[in-house]
Amino acid sequence: MALAGRRDGPLMLRGGGGGKPLSHGSRIAVAVAVGIALGCVCAFLYPDGLFRPSASALQWSRHVDSTACESSGRVTNLESQLASLERKNAELRRQINELSMKLQLAGQGKDETLYKAGPFGTVKALRTNPTVMPDESVNSRLAKILGEVAVKKELIVALANSNVREMLEVWFTNIKRVGVPNFLVVALDDNIESFCKSNGVLVYRRDPDEGIDNIAKTGGNHAVSGLKFRVLREFLQLGYSILLSDIDIIFLRNPFDHLYRDSDVESMSDGHNNMTAYGFNDVFDEPSMGWARYAHTMRIWVYNSGFFYIRPTIPSIELLDRVADRLSHEKAWDQAVFNEELFFPSHPGYEGLYASRRTMDIYLFMNSKVLFKTVRKDAQLKKLKPVIVHLNYHPDKLDRMKAVIEFYVNGKQDALQRFPDGSE
Ligand SMILES: *[C@@H]1O[C@H](CO)[C@@H](O)[C@H](O)[C@H]1NC(C)=O
Repeated sequence: MALAGRRDGPLMLRGGGGGKPLSHGSRIAVAVAVGIALGCVCAFLYPDGLFRPSASALQWSRHVDSTACESSGRVTNLESQLASLERKNAELRRQINELSMKLQLAGQGKDETLYKAGPFGTVKALRTNPTVMPDESVNSRLAKILGEVAVKKELIVALANSNVREMLEVWFTNIKRVGVPNFLVVALDDNIESFCKSNGVLVYRRDPDEGIDNIAKTGGNHAVSGLKFRVLREFLQLGYSILLSDIDIIFLRNPFDHLYRDSDVESMSDGHNNMTAYGFNDVFDEPSMGWARYAHTMRIWVYNSGFFYIRPTIPSIELLDRVADRLSHEKAWDQAVFNEELFFPSHPGYEGLYASRRTMDIYLFMNSKVLFKTVRKDAQLKKLKPVIVHLNYHPDKLDRMKAVIEFYVNGKQDALQRFPDGSE
């Protein structure tokens, strides 16, 4: 159209192949012809219309079932082409990520500046580190299992031994209820392995490893919890993102619809309100210092190492290694170590880990302190349906798990009332 309409375009007219300029009437004819041709092309490419079918379009389509039959084949074909293009696009984006990381690394220690900082307000550092190159040779058996169960290279993983069998059943029953297919139990003993199999739950058993196996079979809560940092390494090396979950967790919605995926570690918090969960400036007062009596401190409640999403990146694997290494040498609580490694900066004699972090929404990924201390007493917050509830703050776990299901799944409004805020 632009070609035909252009008055002072000798090049265009000559290039248009016409020789003589077109008359007014024939220009209109050409325009109409082009319009019809475009319409045909569109009808061919988008048999369902250019826009998503509206209710009336659906109504209409019922009258043309016979033609819809042929075009639905084309739609399926186009959809699969689109899916494959999306996959290619994701792969290319991953490669860009990787290359820009390499470029940055190559630039380190050189005088030349590879990057010029843009104008004020436009610079943004890297949070989303490139994923590692998947290495199937570390565990081909696991690679095969993950290839089958993962969705978009992601899955929920939990470790379990027979001590938590009853809770495990509640755990996977609720995951199944919300329709999440990509989850896997790492069984730490025979009993749990056969229990999972008999319930149609995909289960993975590690190859024998003495150091790990002793803890796995007899370990209490905290000892088993520390194991996951060793077990998870291979999962990341194989290129999968893991949503690590403890067993005392109720899934109420699909967690994969509520992740940001922009950080190495995205974790639920032990915090009980915005300040404690997301960080605050806590002013420490020392009156004897007079003029300088106030010292500002940065505080944040710890991340809960029983529920976090970890991307397969170098900083993530370094985190697992550092935590596992410290737990094998110190008598320490894995959650404390996990947080120290994540948060402490480099200082003399110590090199900090620089993993990017994101705190999950405390009302979507809810700990049981938030639920029992605040949410159940708040008319507005009560209406929100969390993605998960983690009974991390309470020892009577199974009892409270069942009450959470009564409340959120079965709609029993008073199901949470009989419990005290904390344990008594
Ligand atoms: C807590 O943070 C959320 C998200 O930033 C915000 O929407 C909400 O208003 C905050 N609540 C309070 C009590 O400050």
